[in-house]
Amino acid sequence: MLDSYLKDEAFLALVAPIVETEAFGRLKLTQHHNDSVYSHTMRVAYRAYRIGRRWGADEKALIRGALFHDLYFHDWREKEHILNHGWTHPFIALENAKRHFPPLTDHEANIISSHMWPFNIANPPRSKEALIVSLSDKIVASAEVVLMFFNFVRRTVGLAKKQK
Ligand SMILES: [Fe+2]
Ligand SMILES: [Fe+2]
Repeated sequence: MLDSYLKDEAFLALVAPIVETEAFGRLKLTQHHNDSVYSHTMRVAYRAYRIGRRWGADEKALIRGALFHDLYFHDWREKEHILNHGWTHPFIALENAKRHFPPLTDHEANIISSHMWPFNIANPPRSKEALIVSLSDKIVASAEVVLMFFNFVRRTVGLAKKQK
């Protein structure tokens, strides 16, 4: 269910010009929970796309903002990131988006930098699109954590059965 975006041809065609670039492809190697930032980002972009269609959002800004919201290439578990990843990664993503996918509008920049709100309390979403991406990120991240927990339980129970 998390990966239902794979069956939506219209969505895949819409994101292809960005997703098929070398820079975006690097997210396949970047860790997020037990998965890649690439998979997480595609799920968030698809959730945002679906909500955006219902809420009459600006599709171009919404998709670009969603695809770039976690455009970082470091491993958050590295020593220099582990304590402040939650605060800094939206701004790292913003810098990477400016470098790899210019020009970036102020609207798109706010979608990216505010997606952790209210964690970054001083930098709130300033548009419907920014709110949709922030909400989609929380929905998808929560589902990923629940799934990770169920997979952990399933593996642990499976191991216990094997040991009997
Ligand atoms: Fe994020
Ligand atoms: Fe995210």
